[in-house]
Amino acid sequence: MDSLSQIEVEDVTKVYRFKGTEFPIIKNVSFKVKKRDFTCIVGPSGCGKSTLLKMMAGLEKPTYGAIRFEGERIKGPHPKISMVFQSFALFPWRTVLQNVELGLEGKHLSKTDRLRIARELLEMVGLKGYEDSYPKALSGGMKQRVGIARALAVDPEVVLMDEAFSALDEYTSAALREDILDIWRDTGKTFILVTHNLREAVEMAEDVIVLSSKPTTVRRIVKIALKRPRHSDDPDFVRIHKDLYRLLREELETTMVRYRLRRIKELREVEDIEKMEDEN
Ligand SMILES: Nc1ncnc2c1ncn2[C@@H]1O[C@H](COP(=O)(O)OP(=O)(O)OP(=O)(O)O)[C@@H](O)[C@H]1O
Ligand SMILES: [Mg+2]
Repeated sequence: MDSLSQIEVEDVTKVYRFKGTEFPIIKNVSFKVKKRDFTCIVGPSGCGKSTLLKMMAGLEKPTYGAIRFEGERIKGPHPKISMVFQSFALFPWRTVLQNVELGLEGKHLSKTDRLRIARELLEMVGLKGYEDSYPKALSGGMKQRVGIARALAVDPEVVLMDEAFSALDEYTSAALREDILDIWRDTGKTFILVTHNLREAVEMAEDVIVLSSKPTTVRRIVKIALKRPRHSDDPDFVRIHKDLYRLLREELETTMVRYRLRRIKELREVEDIEKMEDEN
């Protein structure tokens, strides 16, 4: 293992099968993530960003290739890797405190310790005083804070976030982004964030992995060497944002052309398969 890299995505291909036909989603994707890095993954809609993140979390398996954490192949959910979902994924029948505590139930901790840690984390994400509320009484931003506290509860080394801010309004997501950067700096954990928002990527990332359209490959890895805190009106910020935008727009354009062509071919293939099945 490269001594600097904590996560290694090695030549990963993911294929979904539908009615006997194989649909390659991700093709020969390789990249490395260093410990304590903040990596953003961007790419056209539907290119497989969530699938890639789920494979890193051990929730899905690569069809070919491997993903390693500190040199060891990830074969299932890993105690040192946790995930924050866009849809919050909270249990409505549990209070805020109980939702966070849930992350700790697999650990050999006393109830008192679990509660103490959960309370500390809620304070860290700015939810002190809401321990006994139920998710339905919280705003989207607050629910996402609970999701983040729950992901941090297991004291992971790697936090994976899938579009964690995109369901939130502009002000709420800006505040949460700042808090996440503070948590990143204070805890020294590795963060990997999938986002549609290129400005968000330039604001947060050390490295931006730009994916191509399907079958998805790594189009480019862009290093962002801007000083922090970063401001979106800084000329260097604007330039990097524009470059990323151009890269992604090229991908979107090829997606549209390919989509039109492929749609016809795929439709024909699916029709042929259905006809064959009807005849047999
Ligand atoms: N379990 C599955 N079975 C079959 N196809 C799937 C499955 N999960 C995802 N796909 C397909 O894989 C492709 C990638 O999906 P994925 O959700 O990873 O993309 P994404 O880049 O996260 O999209 P978005 O930008 O919309 O969030 C899509 O075409 C989707 O239809
Ligand atoms: Mg997705």
